[in-house]
Amino acid sequence: MNTRTLGTTGPTVSALGLGLMGMSDLYGASDEAESIATIHAALDAGITLLDTGDFYGMGHNEMLLRDALRGRNRDNAVISVKFGALRDVDGGWNGSDLRPVAIKNFLAYTLRRLGTDHVDIYRPARLAPDVPVEDVMGTLAELVKAGHVRHIGLSEVSAETLRRAHAVHPVADLQIEYSLISRDPEAAILPTARELGVGVTAYGVLSRGLISGHWTPQRETDATDFRSHLPRFAGANLDRNLALVDALRAVAEARGVTVAQIAIAWVLSRGEDIVPLIGARRRERLTEALGAAAVTLTEADLAAIEAAVPSGAAAGSRYDEAQMAFLDSERA
Ligand SMILES: NC(=O)c1ccc[n+]([C@@H]2O[C@H](COP(=O)([O-])OP(=O)(O)OC[C@H]3O[C@@H](n4cnc5c(N)ncnc54)[C@H](OP(=O)(O)O)[C@@H]3O)[C@@H](O)[C@H]2O)c1
Repeated sequence: MNTRTLGTTGPTVSALGLGLMGMSDLYGASDEAESIATIHAALDAGITLLDTGDFYGMGHNEMLLRDALRGRNRDNAVISVKFGALRDVDGGWNGSDLRPVAIKNFLAYTLRRLGTDHVDIYRPARLAPDVPVEDVMGTLAELVKAGHVRHIGLSEVSAETLRRAHAVHPVADLQIEYSLISRDPEAAILPTARELGVGVTAYGVLSRGLISGHWTPQRETDATDFRSHLPRFAGANLDRNLALVDALRAVAEARGVTVAQIAIAWVLSRGEDIVPLIGARRRERLTEALGAAAVTLTEADLAAIEAAVPSGAAAGSRYDEAQMAFLDSERA
């Protein structure tokens, strides 16, 4: 597996990272033994970047990662943790708490659950309206100084917020949704990250499975599957988006690769500063995703992909209205 360095101050990580979220939360039922086998297979294939969140399954995701790393060399893993989101017992979302005491509390629990003395990259999942990003960075800088956190990351913030944050303390990477059908970061966020020397970890590169080539109109999602609430997976939007996938499938077949592989390879081709996070939670899916690392897209391939899935072609927003309002990255 090739490596990429996250920005000018961040760690060097595998060119593909593994995102663990769906193993504990948001995408319906998952299988714990298969999740651990998938993490092991990823490590064995050379993946070093493992992305989790303390609120993914209310701690379950971190404990799953601790179990998966048992008997492995923890120092070979770059553990990225998101924090700040407040949940309720039914899985609901109650905003973010980024007060200094809250951040220190979140980290104390995280270190215990992970069974480690430091987090490699620590990032607020969303900003909180009552705490300026400068203050959040100040708290995180203290944790870096104390050795509990190695690098600071951010998630879903605008170019302007990234600039303000980076002025307080270097940001290793910005985590943001970026895929063939979510290209808004190209306007201001990616250029600003590049200018500042901030790396990018791209999530939703398969748009949560929608552009993986495996999603069908018949696929059933239960109430615990967050995708059942997403505009892009509903009604006429879904038909329109799956038509884009059909067009992409023709390009993928001509190249002898799968839809998921061409979609991931496209994100990889957007720059050496971008590391796609793969949301595989089964070994079979992981194997497919890993195949993308070996796909080099030519100019002709890129033109064919652009013709199949032009920028802005997706129907529906990437989150529902309430969640969109919570995204700093969506502010101009
Ligand atoms: N910072 C943020 O706000 C934020 C938000 C969301 C996610 N993330 C991070 O990014 C990671 C990835 O996000 P994501 O899960 O939305 O990414 P994704 O890669 O776009 O979607 C993953 C889903 O696609 C389906 N899929 C089908 N074929 C696949 C293949 N070959 N490889 C991988 N997945 C395939 C799987 O669904 P089935 O298993 O149902 O088939 C899988 O759960 C998360 O785990 C999390 O760590 C961050």
